[in-house]
Amino acid sequence: MKIIIINGPNLNLLGKREPEVYGTSTFEDYFKQLKEKHHTLHLDYFQSNIEGELINKIQEVGFTYDGILLNAAAYTHTSVGIGDAIKAITTPVIEVHISNTFSREEYRHQSFIAPNAKGIVIGFGLKSYDLALQALL
Ligand code: DQA
Repeated sequence: MKIIIINGPNLNLLGKREPEVYGTSTFEDYFKQLKEKHHTLHLDYFQSNIEGELINKIQEVGFTYDGILLNAAAYTHTSVGIGDAIKAITTPVIEVHISNTFSREEYRHQSFIAPNAKGIVIGFGLKSYDLALQALL
């Protein structure tokens, strides 16, 4: 099975970014553990701070991969373009968030990903990715 995690803006700073909200682990460290745990899977990781690069990656993998775990970060709440990209592809997408976006500012309650996602995993820290992966499997 071919699965990719796609992370949006500022998630390259995990570990040092607002650790009280997002924890102290880097995503690279977490991804290494996740790969070891699910070693039979083909698991890829892509991160960008640029909206168009995220859309390009979604289009690139969206007809051949078996699943996308997408944390579009701040673009979740603003990007019609990423929402449309998810609508356009055939690969199922699970929306993932580290923090519980519904317990935070109201502007984080809106998602352009959710209407076209297969499911959503929100608020379990980095473990949200593993839970989403298990759901996908
Ligand atoms: C986030 C939540 C978003 O509101 C925020 O902009 C992020 C991270 C999360 O994983 O909790 O950058 O997607």
